[in-house]
Amino acid sequence: MCGIVGYIGKRHALPIILDGLKRLEYRGYDSSGVAILTDKGLSIKRKKGKIKDLIELVEHESIDGTTGLGHTRWATHGKPSDENAHPHRAGDVVVVHNGIIENYTELRSALKGRGHHFKSETDTEIIAHLIEDHIKSGESFEQAVLSAVNQLKGSFALGIMHIKTPDKLIAVRESSPLVLGFGNSENIFASDMPAILPYTNKMLFMNDGTMAVVTADVVQLTDFSGKKLAAQPKQFDISPAMAEKGGYKHFMQKEIFEQPHAITDTMRDRILFDTKEVNLAEARIEEKLLNSLKRINFVACGTSYHAGLAGKYIIEEMTGIPVDVDVASEFRYRSPLVEKETLTIAISQSGETADTIAAIRLAKKHGSSVLSICNVMDSTIARESDHVLYTHAGPEISVASTKAFTSQLTSIYLLAIHIGRRLNRIPKQQAIKYVDTLIAIPSMLDNILKQEDTLAGIAKEYSKHSDFLYLGRGISYPVALEGALKLKEISYIHAEGYPAGEIKHGPIALVSPDMPVVFVAVKGRVYEKIKNNIEEVKARDGKIISITTVDGEEIQKLSDASFFIPETDEMFTPILSVVPLQLFAYHIAVLNGTDVDQPKNLAKSVTVE
Ligand code: M6R
Repeated sequence: MCGIVGYIGKRHALPIILDGLKRLEYRGYDSSGVAILTDKGLSIKRKKGKIKDLIELVEHESIDGTTGLGHTRWATHGKPSDENAHPHRAGDVVVVHNGIIENYTELRSALKGRGHHFKSETDTEIIAHLIEDHIKSGESFEQAVLSAVNQLKGSFALGIMHIKTPDKLIAVRESSPLVLGFGNSENIFASDMPAILPYTNKMLFMNDGTMAVVTADVVQLTDFSGKKLAAQPKQFDISPAMAEKGGYKHFMQKEIFEQPHAITDTMRDRILFDTKEVNLAEARIEEKLLNSLKRINFVACGTSYHAGLAGKYIIEEMTGIPVDVDVASEFRYRSPLVEKETLTIAISQSGETADTIAAIRLAKKHGSSVLSICNVMDSTIARESDHVLYTHAGPEISVASTKAFTSQLTSIYLLAIHIGRRLNRIPKQQAIKYVDTLIAIPSMLDNILKQEDTLAGIAKEYSKHSDFLYLGRGISYPVALEGALKLKEISYIHAEGYPAGEIKHGPIALVSPDMPVVFVAVKGRVYEKIKNNIEEVKARDGKIISITTVDGEEIQKLSDASFFIPETDEMFTPILSVVPLQLFAYHIAVLNGTDVDQPKNLAKSVTVE
């Protein structure tokens, strides 16, 4: 949901900002812009389209300056256009913004009444005017920003420049992410780490309600009342190469192939390899909480929600603890029956999804403890949770989530075994079996990934269809949902996920040779049942693609195309069965020429409601 970069230091700011915007392009990509303070004055360039269009616009110009701001946009207020692209300027004030200003209509009319003229349809432009208004009434740059932010309602991460105060930039955070990078005689801030990593590993995730006055040498943090706060950066052990494509055609493909590694990294140090015990001491789940635990409630969005749905099957099966799963945007607006005996588990790759943040705040208000499964260290969700279990998937850049999902599942297995053992719900030998099964998954995945060509072949045969049905039962039902989501988001092909047992209650009416049906049909307690569902589709001339276990020959006979995954404990099959579906969707998208890593209308982190 928009990416911001700000740089101040000794180097040319333009290439640093453009590079940062490219690394943040996953956050939004309908227009972009830069503002650089040069000897000749301020240079602002804005362009509808992708960052490459902005680069084309500025590449033959000499825009030399060591202070600048940049922005890549995902439109909320005002369509994508050059005029609505950021930065926005009012007099000497320049602003880039990620978020939504909810009271912008009233502020805009008040400012109009005071003689301000607006050039865009955005909510952001009012921020620049508001600050300008305060400066005109005699306030300093810092004081004017504080006065303005105290008038704003909504979510905002801001980068602000004042032409007459060229030795500093101001960064502000309220409900939208912002990271400060501490360099050597240079400082940089951005919406996410990848834009900062090439310059420094010393970073600080800003808290809500804080402002940073950033010069080349000093970062001064304050709260919105102007009270000074200590700025203590942390050293992050991540390299810029981890956020690059490394020879793959797309980030999505690279991230699919990183899954065996990501899963191993997520297990590392949490399984004691000699005793096969799971140790999640880092999450600090107290005995008191465990002993009183009556229910677990997952809250998440999108792919992370699908991991939560699978988590219900896993945790209920392994521990006998009842589990509910909520889409965060629904949970936050109902009256959830959550109490202190409920453990709320938030799942989020980015740790910045606005609805999930709101859901955990509500759960806490009801007295529930919150544990988060997050990929981004120190992100808002991680910081606001009582307990955190980090997935170690490394930066996920592609908008379509892949390795985050399988690492989230890995964390859920670890958590289920950990809780099950501590509550004595899983006998020791059974826990060892689970751990052995989990440890074997990465090499099974390696074998699946070696068969990418088979999946590319199936994708070729089906790439021109415009509707797909994805069906699964039991633990494979969330996998069917996730497979359908992957296809629709990157190829723009309509795909619907459904529990296979439900098709006779409606969706079977859709079955025809024109709508391929993808079955996730793995060995387990509902294997015979899903075979019946395949028969039902076959009897109606449906085209069948099946993901099945190695000895699923009967299913192969019924299918027009099949892909085999190794047999394992049913509860652990989602990690294996989802990967062929990721590759299938990826190859269909490539064949159809869509923008795989940056699908239209989407953004990686949904930091607005
Ligand atoms: O960062 P989060 O895991 O909280 O993000 C949640 C969803 O926005 C995300 O999973 C989305 O559905 C992905 N684009 C799916 O591939």
